[in-house]
Amino acid sequence: MISTKNDEEIRLMEYAGKVCYELLEAMEGFIKAGVTTKEINDYADKFIRDKDCIPSELGYEGYPASICTSINEEVVHGIPGNRSLKNGDIISLDVVACYKGYHADTARTYKVGEVSKEVENLMLHTKEALYKGLSVIKEGVKLNVVCETIESVANTYGYGIIRELTGHGIGKSMHEDPYIPNYSNEEAKNITLEYGMTLAIEPMFSLKGKKVWLLEDDWTISTQDGSPAAHYEHTIVVTKEGYKILTGE
Ligand code: MF3
Ligand code: CO
Ligand code: CO
Repeated sequence: MISTKNDEEIRLMEYAGKVCYELLEAMEGFIKAGVTTKEINDYADKFIRDKDCIPSELGYEGYPASICTSINEEVVHGIPGNRSLKNGDIISLDVVACYKGYHADTARTYKVGEVSKEVENLMLHTKEALYKGLSVIKEGVKLNVVCETIESVANTYGYGIIRELTGHGIGKSMHEDPYIPNYSNEEAKNITLEYGMTLAIEPMFSLKGKKVWLLEDDWTISTQDGSPAAHYEHTIVVTKEGYKILTGE
């Protein structure tokens, strides 16, 4: 069952989303060589709480930190710790805030100092896949059009699509129906977007191989071939004309 949200619920999600957006913006200046992922986590935790939200990821299925910090070949769910960033790294931050019972979820990949041209392009194109996927959204459109659009961007550039990880509905829970794979699939062909659906769209591409595995910390998902991965995510609401980003400006 895919829920739709009323205007008041969307307002609450929009507030949570704005807090997440402002945090990711602030991180543009905070992320640099020498900073540890624990420092990033602690900054984020305080930022979210100071704005009357709760970091939803902390304690989610036992997850031990307030945000996810995934470096280079780590795709998602990297756990903050004592590792410090170095020039040439990329780091994906994935944050979820909850305001009065409603969640918003967003992610972005940052570069630390200068990165290679191909990694810079991977970031650019994964972001392009997010915005192209969003651009087809409006009431009455099949969800699979979004999935296909994201897939076609990855195929254009020859990136690996991480098939084990998907976007999702969001609202009262961080993860709600439907699953939103970043590739064409039968299930999404039967789902029609409706006004008030709130969705987290999140392409995750790797430079080369699409295979991933779970690291020994039981959380971090990393590419098997060690190639770097990028991740961009927005929470949106479907409208009659199109969509509105809840985790943007
Ligand atoms: N924010 C992630 C997503 O996009 C979920 C992370 S759950 C955690 O769906 F427990 F790992 F934090
Ligand atoms: Co997320
Ligand atoms: Co998500």
